[in-house]
Parts: sequence; C-alpha cells; structure tokens
Amino acid sequence: MKMKIVCIPGDGIGPEIVAEANKVLDRVAQVYGHEIERKSVLMGGCSIDAYGEPLTQETIDACKAADAVLMGSIGGDTTTSPWYKLPPEKRPEAGLLGIRKALGLFANLRPACLYPELAAACPLRPDIVAKGFDMVMVRELTGGLYFGPRSTEERDGQLVATDTLVYSEAEIRRVAIRAFDVARKRRKLVTSVDKANVLDSSRLWRKVVEEVAKDYSDVTLKHQLVDSCAMELVRDPGQFDVVLTENMFGDILSDEASMVAGSLGMLSSASLNETRFGLYEPSGGSAPDIAGKGIANPIATILSAAMMLRYSFDLDAEADAIERAVKETLAAGIRTGDIMHGDTDGLTRVGTAGMGDAIAERIR
Ligand code: IPM
Ligand code: MG
Repeated sequence: MKMKIVCIPGDGIGPEIVAEANKVLDRVAQVYGHEIERKSVLMGGCSIDAYGEPLTQETIDACKAADAVLMGSIGGDTTTSPWYKLPPEKRPEAGLLGIRKALGLFANLRPACLYPELAAACPLRPDIVAKGFDMVMVRELTGGLYFGPRSTEERDGQLVATDTLVYSEAEIRRVAIRAFDVARKRRKLVTSVDKANVLDSSRLWRKVVEEVAKDYSDVTLKHQLVDSCAMELVRDPGQFDVVLTENMFGDILSDEASMVAGSLGMLSSASLNETRFGLYEPSGGSAPDIAGKGIANPIATILSAAMMLRYSFDLDAEADAIERAVKETLAAGIRTGDIMHGDTDGLTRVGTAGMGDAIAERIR
C-alpha cells in the first residue's frame, strides 16, 4: 500500500517523538512491503516563529491532501515563552484547535490501559492495580466550551470574561455513534459522562445519547456525572470500557486516565472525522522542560502511529505488530525515565531514540 502521510512535529519534544514514530513506521513499511510518502509541515509555536501565525492555510491544505496526519505536540512554557504574550488566537494552541476544526475531527479516541509491566508506575493502590483496566475515552473534539463564543469585556469598571458551552443534537449524535461503534468491538459498555444535574448542554447530551443507544441494543449505556467519574477513575478504573464525553470533560479526564495508566507518555490518540482520514497524536503536551534532551518517552506517539495504521489504512496486522513490539520492549525491561519506577533491578534506562530503536527492531 502507498500511504500519504503529513507529519506535524510541532514544538518541544514533538520533533523527537515523531522521529521515533517514523522510525517504527519505516520498519513496518519495510517488513510488510508498504510505501510511505511523507511531508513535514509547521504548526504551533514553530509556525508562529516562521510565519507569524500558529496555523497556515498551507498546513491545512497539506493535511487535506494526505491520507493521515501524524503529529507530535505544540506549545511552550506558558509563563516564559514569548508565544504566550500574543493574543489568544495567535498562540500555539489556537493552531491545534484550528486544525481539528478545519479537518472536522470531531471524535477523539484516547485508549488508556495498564500494561502489567508498568504496574509500578501506576500511582494507585496495589489491590486496584491488580484488577487492571483497559478503557477508551471518546472525547468530542470540535464543539463545546473550547469552540463556543468567548469574550472579555469591561462592565461597570471591571473585566468580565465569558466562555460558552454550545452543543447541537447533530454534534452530540455523531460522536455518540462513534463511541457505540467502538464499544461494539470491545466489552460493549458505554459510560456517558456529563453534568446533567447542572448544565443544559449536558441534559441535551444525555437525551441524544439515549436516542443513539436505542440502535445498539447489544451495548449497555450508563450515565455518570463528571465529578463522580473523576473519582471513580481512581477508585475503580477497571469498571470503564468506553467513556463518552464532551470536549472539556474529556480533556481533563483523559489526562487523569493517562496518569492512572502510569504516564502521560503512554497515551496515544486518534482524532477522526466521518471518513477514514485521521490526525494521530500523543495525548501529552510538548513538555518544554525536557525538550531537546533526548529523554522523552516516544511510546504514545508510536502507539498513535499504530492507531493510524488501524483506522486510516485498515492495516490491523501492522498495527498489532507495533502494539506487540511495545509490549515486548516493556517486558524486556526497557524504560524511559518517566516509566522507570519501583524495583529497577533488571530494567534498562534508555532515551527517546533508544526506545524507538528497541521497538523498531521488534517489528516482525
Ligand atoms: C489536548 C490538549 C489540547 C486540548 C490543548 C493543547 C489545546 O490539552 O489535546 O488534550 O485541550 O485539546
Ligand atoms: Mg489535554
């Protein structure tokens, strides 16, 4: 197969972790006989430095012309970087939100599971860890509070800031359908998370999700309030299969889920629209504090590349090969610093490239 991929390395650790994902993809292409055509474009802070804006039309067009996009991370240190002196719509994050919107990527899938080898990296009690967990967050990605009208204005001599959480039925329905489809291929449980005891948007969310559920009689639907979900994620993460939620709740809960899984460096993600096209990126940020040091964990990006093969190219065997190589690498005791915990006897500490090499050489 010929795959046309656009890479957005971005800022901070982005270029380092994308390089390792590409190393693994090249190995997959070699072993399985595929051809990869790559183009690299700028977005985020590096695009601000080059063009004065975080997302250019050229980057959007390049993405649209590709089969899939592999992204690293964008942004810098929000207290020290000059990018954060710019107006909000010119900052790196506006580029990421903008590309999601421009490509219609409304469904963000973030799988969080506990690798037995990383049990020591999990901050939860051993009896909870022993039960294990394996969930997928399905986060709505192009609506809600992050895209509703916002303003800061002066009223009666003081500044008043407003953000708006807007959802239409159609926006809720399409992401709910995606979550039920995902659940159907897993343990057939959708937990829909909202704040329906307070928010109108959540009450509509619940109504539409219930309508969608009628078409999936084989899938169980549970509703949970977001505050309670945040608590349950650390009390008993094993109860979750597919967690369906709106944009901001999903942003927050997926970081929580990643930490429960041991490290933000392990959490992959796929942002999908109605077609096979997708943007694949680690759920973590640009980690400016460790950028350029060669110590970032590339596993989330490598697993995102596996998701790309699965969702955009239908290459399940190849995606399985990457996931298996990651498991074997962990089982061999190879660790980046963020997942080096507990008894370190028998573990080997590697940097970003060392981890990429270890995974690439286990592709078969
Ligand atoms: C994420 C990030 C982004 C988001 C930021 C950088 C805009 O936190 O992908 O979770 O909030 O979606
Ligand atoms: Mg986030």
